[in-house]
Amino acid sequence: MNLELENLSVKIDDKEILKNFNLKIKPGEIHAIMGPNGIGKSTLSKVIMGYPDYKIVAGDIKVDNKSIKDVTITERSRMGIFLVYQNPISIEGVKSSEVLKSSYDSCSKTPKNLYEFITNVEGIAHELEMNKNMLHRDFNVGFSGGERKKNEILWLLLLKPKFIILDELDSGLDVDSLKTVTDALNKYLKENKETSVLIITHYTRILDYIKPKYVHMVKEGHISVSGDFSLAKLIEKYGYNQSFDIKGDKICE
Ligand SMILES: Nc1ncnc2c1ncn2[C@@H]1O[C@H](COP(=O)(O)OP(=O)(O)OP(=O)(O)O)[C@@H](O)[C@H]1O
Ligand SMILES: [Mg+2]
Repeated sequence: MNLELENLSVKIDDKEILKNFNLKIKPGEIHAIMGPNGIGKSTLSKVIMGYPDYKIVAGDIKVDNKSIKDVTITERSRMGIFLVYQNPISIEGVKSSEVLKSSYDSCSKTPKNLYEFITNVEGIAHELEMNKNMLHRDFNVGFSGGERKKNEILWLLLLKPKFIILDELDSGLDVDSLKTVTDALNKYLKENKETSVLIITHYTRILDYIKPKYVHMVKEGHISVSGDFSLAKLIEKYGYNQSFDIKGDKICE
């Protein structure tokens, strides 16, 4: 999927969070975004997903050169946009398997019967080293932080999206679980070469596993510096205070 953010400005409750945000992600590309707490990274992910609370006051979001500003969250899911939430919600009284089945039925053009569906989901749960009993518990209720993140990836692998946003997937996952989950994601990306990924993170560990082509630093509502993986290393070393320079196309210490 080709996703383009053009001079995007976004407000929440009259507070401008994103200002003149520009980013182009081509099919199959992996981009990473890093930036201080509260700068607007999760806001960006929710704007791409289509949350109505986040008001686009200027600019545009385009998929394959067409504006999706007026496209609803549900339609965006059907188009293949998938957001792995920083803090996944829980839903009391609704089983995980029911949430997954209804979202699968809503997004899929090839419905599966219940038996096929459960077999498919249990296969993914096994790959993610999840206890399949979780499928029969209320959605994320009482799940640990890491279990919630795995549940998100289970959902993702079920829906087979074309544009993936990982909002701090690495927070809450232990080292082994992060490896398990990123192995499963890399396998998916290898089989679905047109799928693009936007990774939001504070740390380079996840980027060691899912290698981005570009790394962007967000400051003051937009991307202030872009580079390759070495930019992530510099951010980890120096923080966001920019005690590094851009010389030509090179970012130097
Ligand atoms: N629904 C909302 N109502 C009011 N303010 C909000 C809302 N959502 C986000 N904000 C504010 O917008 C700003 C950006 O928040 P956001 O969650 O996008 O930051 P972030 O870059 O993801 O930070 P972190 O690294 O801590 O996850 C913050 O000041 C936050 O309090
Ligand atoms: Mg966030």
